[in-house]
Amino acid sequence: MDKNKVSIVILAAGKGSRMKSPKAKVIHTICGKPMLYHIIKASQEISNDITVVIAHQKEDVQKQISAYFDNINFVVQDTQNFPGTGGAMKNVAPKNEKVLVLNGDMPLITSDSLKGFLDKEEDIIMSIFDLTNPDGYGRVIIKNTHVQKIVEQKDASADELKVGTVNAGIYAFSKNILEKYIPLLENKNAQAEYYLTDVIAMAKADNFNIFPLLVDETEFKGVNSKKDLSDAEAIMQNKINTRWMNEGVIMQLPATIYIEEGVIFEGECIVENGCRITGKTLIINSHIKAGSVIEDSTIINSDIGPLAHLRPASYVEDTHVGNFVEIKKSTLKGVKAGHLSYIGDAEIDEGTNIGAGTITCNYDGIKKYKTIIGKNVFVGSDSQLIAPVTIEDNVMIAAGTTVTSGTVAKGSLAISRTKLTLIKDFYYRFFDKK
Ligand code: UD1
Ligand code: CA
Repeated sequence: MDKNKVSIVILAAGKGSRMKSPKAKVIHTICGKPMLYHIIKASQEISNDITVVIAHQKEDVQKQISAYFDNINFVVQDTQNFPGTGGAMKNVAPKNEKVLVLNGDMPLITSDSLKGFLDKEEDIIMSIFDLTNPDGYGRVIIKNTHVQKIVEQKDASADELKVGTVNAGIYAFSKNILEKYIPLLENKNAQAEYYLTDVIAMAKADNFNIFPLLVDETEFKGVNSKKDLSDAEAIMQNKINTRWMNEGVIMQLPATIYIEEGVIFEGECIVENGCRITGKTLIINSHIKAGSVIEDSTIINSDIGPLAHLRPASYVEDTHVGNFVEIKKSTLKGVKAGHLSYIGDAEIDEGTNIGAGTITCNYDGIKKYKTIIGKNVFVGSDSQLIAPVTIEDNVMIAAGTTVTSGTVAKGSLAISRTKLTLIKDFYYRFFDKK
């Protein structure tokens, strides 16, 4: 694939009013990444010259995208004087003769489907699909297999509204077509906008060749509302899960499992229903049980959950993590933490058992402190470890102990308990009954 043959322009300057959101539409996320991220990623597989047109919330959009990609050209649209998808094309200067223009709200697009626009010779290749409910899309008017024009819904006559063939929102133009017609666009329409889609009728009138490419709705779906956003996410999630099952991951009820783009599995892993796995997580030969949430963590040869929560920067190897255990920024190697614990900013070594209800008290209200626990330590149930604290190898912490800051030396028992007092028949006196 010669990436220097085609330029790509992604339109991402619009307000996206139908999202009803203070945030720009194109940075709403799908499977953990902004919509625009997914489009740029697909684009990068076929082109080295990618321009993103921004305007609405432009600093935010640029910042989010620059976090993932360098060498993207940003162009700012003059939305005051030239609103609309045609106005968005005014200041772009693509390097190559062939220019793919993509709407920035089509996160499901793949590089394979984009390639379909590149092997044809017509002056304009535009994407179409047929819908029983074409609501919201521009209608494509075709006569005797020749595309005549695109009519936006708000400008369409009653007859045109009945047309089910719609503009999917991706076009391949020869550069000369854009140079010729973008400056000639007018805004005499219902929205007083400069429509990129008007280029079609203008080019048709001058006898340029226009090829309508039939595309698959599931890949070219435009996201205009939050409902569309969730529909698109479900489609992408299904693809992600299918890919991992094909790679050997066992999933129970995959439709209930949320796994972000960027998560990696190796070896044989099992993911039970209702899990959420996000960020830069790596899971090797492990079993993630129902209802667990894993964020930016590494899990190797371990079993997690049900209902466990691994927060960012957790590293868990050869370890058993049971229900209601929360781990944050901690390393556990060869450990058992079976029941309801909070383990934060800790390092715990082989053979150590963390009893039910153990809490690392890592925060004093101002700073966070570390808990270091050595090998073969037995931490009894309901213990509090007040960090900074170091517990050396072969230590026993008696149930209910509060270990205050400092070091518990190798081989010791730590026990802090108030003496139990027994008062005979107190119950009967208190409630005044016998
Ligand atoms: C557009 C098409 C419509 C097509 C549909 C497919 C036009 C006029 N209409 O309609 O025919 O069926 O996509 O999904 O092109 N944008 C800008 N600057 C603007 C306005 C929009 O950059 O001034 C960007 C938006 O950020 C968005 C994309 O262009 O990513 C499409 O804009 P949107 O308002 O969603 O267009 P539609 O009404 O969906
Ligand atoms: Ca749209």
